[in-house]
Amino acid sequence: MENSLNHNQIIEKINALLDRYHSDLSYCHGADHCRRVAKLAVKIGEREGADCQIIEVAALLHDIGVVPLAWGRHASGRDDNDFQEFLGLYALPSADHGEVGALIAERFLRQNGYPEGKIKQVTLIIKEHNTHNQTTLESRVVNDADKLEALGATWVARAFQRTNAFDRRISIESIPEKYLIGRKAFLENIHIEAVKEIAEQRYRFLESFIEQFQRELRLET
Ligand SMILES: [Fe+2]
Ligand SMILES: [Fe+2]
Repeated sequence: MENSLNHNQIIEKINALLDRYHSDLSYCHGADHCRRVAKLAVKIGEREGADCQIIEVAALLHDIGVVPLAWGRHASGRDDNDFQEFLGLYALPSADHGEVGALIAERFLRQNGYPEGKIKQVTLIIKEHNTHNQTTLESRVVNDADKLEALGATWVARAFQRTNAFDRRISIESIPEKYLIGRKAFLENIHIEAVKEIAEQRYRFLESFIEQFQRELRLET
């Protein structure tokens, strides 16, 4: 095990990990998404008086569990297999990318000498981010930042990005049904009062975008 790193050093290591594994495996859950969530979460966390170092580490790593899934689809031509052992976890009926991500993050942080107590806090956040149950303030902050990313103009952009990753190529007409309608659940899974207001604005934008988009597709405008 390496000597304990300071916060900036661990962030540097995580960024290198994201660049290596997350950058071209987007699914709209790529390194860019993780970095946006981290910035947003730190901003929210500062206002809420939360531990922003824990938040930054957890937010950057929150979707690392997507990597083995993407790895399975895009493995050809890649010669390193750091994530191969985690692929098998997806065979478990209960496994999701939050749980798998927590295991990957735990191994990575321990290898880098991150303090055990903090590893527990970070992995809890990662595990909980894909559920409706957030048990700490820091977990609620990361969850809410991630859910904000699933609303508004950012989500519209990510939805179109997602079609290429998951569906290779689906028609533009099928995007509203598949990825834009039904986002209210994300709005309802926001816990922090100050974030709810922003989420509602983003949701209203999303609704008006869907309306306009469908009018255009029906040649009504
Ligand atoms: Fe996620
Ligand atoms: Fe995410």
